[in-house]
Amino acid sequence: MDHFNLRNGELHAEDVPLAAIADAVGTPVYVYSRATLERHLQVFREGLSGLDDPLIAYSVKANPNAALLAVLAKQGAGADVVSAGELLRAVAAGIPAGKIVFSGVGKTAAEMRIALEHGIYQFNLESEPEAEMLSAIAVQMGKIANVAYRINPDVDALTHAKISTGKAENKFGIPYESSLVAYAALARMPGLRIQGVDVHIGSQLTTLAPFEAAFSRLGVLIGQLREAGHSIETADLGGGLGVPYDPSEPLPPSPAEYGAMVQRITARWNVRLLFEPGRVIAGNAGVLLSRVIRVKQGATQPFVIVDAAMNDLVRPAMYEAWHDIRAVRPRNSQITASVVGPICETGDSFASGRTIDAVEADDLIAFATAGAYGANMATTYNSRPLVPEVLVSGDKWAIVRARPPIEALIAGDSIPDWVR
Ligand code: LLP
Repeated sequence: MDHFNLRNGELHAEDVPLAAIADAVGTPVYVYSRATLERHLQVFREGLSGLDDPLIAYSVKANPNAALLAVLAKQGAGADVVSAGELLRAVAAGIPAGKIVFSGVGKTAAEMRIALEHGIYQFNLESEPEAEMLSAIAVQMGKIANVAYRINPDVDALTHAKISTGKAENKFGIPYESSLVAYAALARMPGLRIQGVDVHIGSQLTTLAPFEAAFSRLGVLIGQLREAGHSIETADLGGGLGVPYDPSEPLPPSPAEYGAMVQRITARWNVRLLFEPGRVIAGNAGVLLSRVIRVKQGATQPFVIVDAAMNDLVRPAMYEAWHDIRAVRPRNSQITASVVGPICETGDSFASGRTIDAVEADDLIAFATAGAYGANMATTYNSRPLVPEVLVSGDKWAIVRARPPIEALIAGDSIPDWVR
C-alpha cells in the first residue's frame, strides 16, 4: 500500500497534488511519501514480531537521501552500508553506529579504519584476504572488530541475473563448502571477534523458496560452527524481499509471510537475527514525476517522449525492469505506445508497446515504485543535471535534494593550462 492516490481526478502524494510539485520544482523530479516509508518499515517490523529483538538494518544503497534516512532513524532503523560514504551518510542522518553493519566484497583499508573508529555493530566479511586486512588494521588501532562471514550458499534466487548474488559462480561470500575452514582461520586472527554468520542471495525475490533454501543451509552451518567451538550470536539474513512492480504479475510474498517463514526456519538457532531490507522499505515510497515533451508518430507505433531518461531512472534500461506509468490527470482513455526519454540511445526506453493512460504534450506522468534504486543510480549522462528529490509529509513538502544548475556541471571540470 502507498500514499500516491487520485483525489478529484488528480494524482497526489499524501495531501499534495503532484502537479504543484512539478510546477514549483520542475521535472523530472523524484517525490517520496514519508507516510509510505514509515508504513513499510512498520509492516516489515510487524512481520518479524515473533522474533526476539531483531535488528532491521535498512540497506542504504536503496535510497541514501538524508531526509529518508532521518525518517527511518527516528523509527529506530539501523543501516546496512557498503561504503564509507554510506556509513558516514547513515551516521550523519542519526543512525547510531551500534546499529550499522558493513557489507560488500571490496572494503578498502581506509573504509575499515573509518568503520572501526565509529565502532559499528558488525563487519560482514567476504574473503580471507579481507579478514586479514581488517585484523591487521584493528590491531594497529587497538580495536576489536565484530565479524561475520558472508556465506555463499549456492542457491538460485530466481531473480534477474544482474541482481542475483547467492550462486557459487557469483563474486559474493565464502563458498559454503569452505566455511568451516574459513572460520577456523578467522578465529586465529587477532583484533577480530567472531560474532555471527551472514547471507544475502539477491534482490527482488518474488518467492520464498530460495530464501528458505539459503537459510536452511545457514542453519546447518551454525550447528557445525558451534560444534567446532565458535560462538555464533548473530545471523544476518540479508535483504532481497521483492515488491510489486507490474500489476499483472502475482504479488510477491508479504513481510508477514516472509517473517513466518523466517520464524519457522530459525526457531532453534538461538541467535539475534539481522535483516537488511532495502527495496521493500523504499520502493513504493517514491515516484519519478516527469512531463511529456511531445508525442511522436513512429513508423510502427506512437512514442511518448518524456523529460525523464535512463540517466534519471536506469532500471528499465539496465534490468528490463517494469515501472507502472500513470497519468497525473488521467482522461479516462488509453493509448498503446512506447514511453521513451530524450537520450540518444535506443535503450533509453521505459516501456514499449504498453497500454497506458492517454497523454499529450505537457501532461505529467508518474513512474511508480521508483523510491528504491532510482535517484541513487542517476547519472549526468548526456549532460543532464542530477534529478532532484522532494519529500512529502501530509500537506507539507520540501526539496530534499535540489536540482544542480547546469553551470555546476560545467564548473566541475577543469581544463589544464597545457591544454588552454
Ligand atoms: N544486503 C546486501 C548485502 C545487498 O547487496 C543488498 C542489495 C541488500 C541488502 C538490499 O537488497 P533489497 O532488500 O533492496 O533487495 N540496483 C538493483 C538492485 C541491486 C541490489 C544490490 N544489493 C535494482 O535496481 O533492482
